Amino acid sequence: MAKHTVTLIPGDGIGVETSSAMQRVIDASGAEIEWEVAEAGAACLETHGALLPESTLESIRRNKVAIKGPITTPVGTGFRSINVALRQALKLYVCLRPVMSLPGAGGRYEDVDLVIVRENTEDLYAGIEFEEGSEAAQALIDFVAQQGAGTILPDSGISVKPISKTGSRNIVEYAFDYAKKQGRKKVTAVHKANIMKFSDGLFLHTARDVAAENPEIAFDERIVDAFCMNMVIDPSQFDVVVFPNLYGDIASDLAAGLVGGLGIAPGANIGKDYAVFEAVHGSAPDIAGKNLANPTAEILSGALMLDHLGEHECAERVRQAVRTVYAEGKVLTGDIRRATGSQEAAASCTEFTDALIEAMNR
Ligand code: NAI
Repeated sequence: MAKHTVTLIPGDGIGVETSSAMQRVIDASGAEIEWEVAEAGAACLETHGALLPESTLESIRRNKVAIKGPITTPVGTGFRSINVALRQALKLYVCLRPVMSLPGAGGRYEDVDLVIVRENTEDLYAGIEFEEGSEAAQALIDFVAQQGAGTILPDSGISVKPISKTGSRNIVEYAFDYAKKQGRKKVTAVHKANIMKFSDGLFLHTARDVAAENPEIAFDERIVDAFCMNMVIDPSQFDVVVFPNLYGDIASDLAAGLVGGLGIAPGANIGKDYAVFEAVHGSAPDIAGKNLANPTAEILSGALMLDHLGEHECAERVRQAVRTVYAEGKVLTGDIRRATGSQEAAASCTEFTDALIEAMNR
């Protein structure tokens, strides 16, 4: 019997190709995983009458751990996003995105090794919005004026930015616990508390409180705009970086761009009870079904999942194979060839996956 059962949601678009590549590499690492395949996405609307069927949520609740390929978000159905729905249904309050340089991946730096810890449920992503011209927007504008809190033009649309002490403490404590478990030395809290004193300010004060409770880990704080500039100048100064939701979203892509792009950026959504691992990128309809996708991000997400399952040796075997194949530079997908300006032939998703497995078995 396999040691772990994991829910696998292949997703759609390039998800079908990258998930299958990930599954092959994780199996080849020696990890004993039984994959319970579950569906989500537009195709499910026909088969199950829902984009995120209850049977898929049940599978994740049963297995506690899932890995998914990207899912296309249909435009104009009133459904915000399956990813947002998953985060809410399973209370996945942490978005974890390690960012690491890979040799020969076309990144601007060779020495990046940081981890983004982004709050996943609050902030401007809470989805509390008031449409321009609506009665509710007008009532809110009137209320703000009555409170003497400021003037909002009557033709404004309004998005609310709630940041709680509870949410901030949960995410900052996660960042410090992660730093301790992974042998990391420093946590940096990123904010704009100089302007948003009651939302980002609360986040920052809570971060300082949690830092005082964890003196063995160094603590540092940066205003988000200065953080972005410092990242571009010298990303090696950062270790674990904790953010409220929106800044974390933007910083993740900035960081991915510094090390070679979306094709190599892994991620995870984690809560107290469940964890769902997935690449940062989307379903890439422009290259879907052509065997052109780079599965590295999904495969490194699989390695994160192995760490979460306690299979650290298998996880390291996967990461080492990725480093080897990139360092050799013989079998790399088209996105990396373009990023490095290389004229050499691009490997298909399958050829790259074969090379990883071959490197692991050497
Ligand atoms: P995208 O990440 O799918 O693609 C952006 C660009 O990067 C495209 O040119 C694509 O070809 C390229 N790219 C992305 N991943 C790649 C890979 N692994 N290998 C090689 N090239 C890669 O972003 P886009 O186009 O904005 O979104 C497409 C769909 O994906 C949308 O429906 C969006 O809602 C969905 N999406 C889903 C996510 C998820 O399920 N986690 C996350 C982000 C977007």
